[in-house]
Amino acid sequence: MSSAGYALFLLYLLCHKVISMNIHPAEHYMAAVYEHHPTLTDDPMGRHTRSAALELMYKNVAVYEEQVKEAARLGAQIIVFPEDGIHGFNFTRESIGPFLEFEPALPLKTWNPCLEPCFNDTEILQRLSCMASNGKMYVVANLGTKRPCQHLDPYCPPDGRYQFNSDVVFSANGTLVAIYHKQNLYFEAGFDTPPEMEHIVFDTPFASRFGLFTCFDIMFLEPAVGLVKQHHVMHVLYPTAWMNQLPLLSALQIQRGFASRFNVNVLAANIHETSLGMTGSGIYTPSKSTYFYNMKSAEGRLIVAQVPVDPSAESPMQGELKPIASQTQNPVFDLPLDNSVCEVEEQSVHCGGRPVAPHKPAPAFFSEMMYDNFTLVPITGAEGELQVCANSLCCHLSYRRTALSGELYALGGFDGLHTIHGTYYLQVCALVKCGETCGEEITEASGVLDFQLWGNFSTTYVFPLLLLSDMALDIADQWGCVGNNCYMYKDKTSSGLVSAALYGRWYEKD
Ligand SMILES: *[C@@H]1O[C@H](CO)[C@@H](O)[C@H](O)[C@H]1NC(C)=O
Ligand SMILES: *[C@@H]1O[C@H](CO)[C@@H](O)[C@H](O)[C@H]1NC(C)=O
Ligand SMILES: *[C@@H]1O[C@H](CO)[C@@H](O)[C@H](O)[C@H]1NC(C)=O
Ligand SMILES: *[C@@H]1O[C@H](CO)[C@@H](O)[C@H](O)[C@H]1NC(C)=O
Ligand SMILES: *[C@@H]1O[C@H](CO)[C@@H](O)[C@H](O)[C@H]1NC(C)=O
Repeated sequence: MSSAGYALFLLYLLCHKVISMNIHPAEHYMAAVYEHHPTLTDDPMGRHTRSAALELMYKNVAVYEEQVKEAARLGAQIIVFPEDGIHGFNFTRESIGPFLEFEPALPLKTWNPCLEPCFNDTEILQRLSCMASNGKMYVVANLGTKRPCQHLDPYCPPDGRYQFNSDVVFSANGTLVAIYHKQNLYFEAGFDTPPEMEHIVFDTPFASRFGLFTCFDIMFLEPAVGLVKQHHVMHVLYPTAWMNQLPLLSALQIQRGFASRFNVNVLAANIHETSLGMTGSGIYTPSKSTYFYNMKSAEGRLIVAQVPVDPSAESPMQGELKPIASQTQNPVFDLPLDNSVCEVEEQSVHCGGRPVAPHKPAPAFFSEMMYDNFTLVPITGAEGELQVCANSLCCHLSYRRTALSGELYALGGFDGLHTIHGTYYLQVCALVKCGETCGEEITEASGVLDFQLWGNFSTTYVFPLLLLSDMALDIADQWGCVGNNCYMYKDKTSSGLVSAALYGRWYEKD
């Protein structure tokens, strides 16, 4: 064989090997998230020395090290830790100073802090890097970082440095491969909004298109939706420190809702701090939820689950929010989606000539749900149809109660700007179990229903939420949008229904 021929042969062998390796790529990888109960400083506003700050942070990092070992034993290839899990929260810009790690201006994927501990104030980054290489897994953690800036930079804070709420990612050999700076801060006096919004995306040997965002970011268009829509992220890494807000906005509901709406995997790690209502972490694929919620335990929990490399392969809806016009049998279309085909007579509604259940319009009432003024109508009888409108949104419900429990349920609608603890425009249709009031925080329910819920939204960013008794998540049988009508339907909840909602975000109106 000539040397050129030999080289070609080698090339052939090499390519063949690569190709044959790609013929049967693994279909799943093992993911872990850890809900961490952090050791917090007693005095987040006070003065700390760097060594006192490190002493506190090492306590939390030591727990992370144990969890990485355990996750490695269970075969995890990536682990996500929560937001604020290392230093805690409620700092001022000054008081968080000693807790911040230095962010060297090096290209990513070139620095391994475990092997090259050459910068001051990178002790925690070093420990995280060593953790990743010892456990041979990707480690995703959240911490505070500082980056010096020049006064020529118009965004540079007066004290000459940026202070970021950062997610860092280390590869399985300890290399720093990604940093994301939180965009949508939630009253965090210690941190700066990054001068430019960041879409952080990276690949791993076991799956591609991972993206990062943090906690409150999930409520906004950028970077969350941009990562999925523009960058085709399939695996969302989501450190969070989320205070639960029932009946619609507990950590689990929004995590599940994001995975459902965008047909992606979400690896979500929350803080475990029950005194602040923080618990609820999980690993979500389009069709499965593996999660933890516990208001009674003192400690958090390691969750390990198998995740599809290609989430669309596992999608219960086969693709994302699409009209399902081909399915002519869809019961949703038996019901009045379009009022133009319906005629209202004295006590009944006719749609396309077909009478819809006799209709005594129930009196609407108002109730505050998560600080929003919902318009509601009570659900009466064993079955029926209801409508409630708020501003330009009309919500419809068709229901059958299979277990009459004597509990009060109501259909609520809200279309307006949410202004308490953050400003964001919502359009929501929600079927909720009421307590003393409709909208109070309830976790127990025994009403079992078949229902179809839909509304004429002005956005298609509508998150389907379905929560059952004892904080059990469920997934709608079908949901989606046809034009501006978004719907979900469920044949029978597997246990008592706490809330079912189409939680819409009209980003442009913020
Ligand atoms: C942080 O601040 C919030 C709101 O001011 C307060 O409710 C909470 O108790 C504080 N948490 C800690 C750990 O100090
Ligand atoms: C790093 O820390 C050492 C010891 O505290 C100090 O002497 C040195 O000046 C620091 N170097 C830089 C670049 O800040
Ligand atoms: C470590 O991992 C990174 C990211 O996968 C890779 O780019 C780099 O080549 C690896 N370094 C070594 C020494 O294996
Ligand atoms: C809720 O909205 C209704 C209708 O706009 C209004 O009459 C009512 O006063 C509002 N309630 C509160 C508590 O703001
Ligand atoms: C929703 O339906 C109601 C009642 O028919 C209508 O007044 C409203 O304009 C509709 N909203 C949109 C966005 O089409």
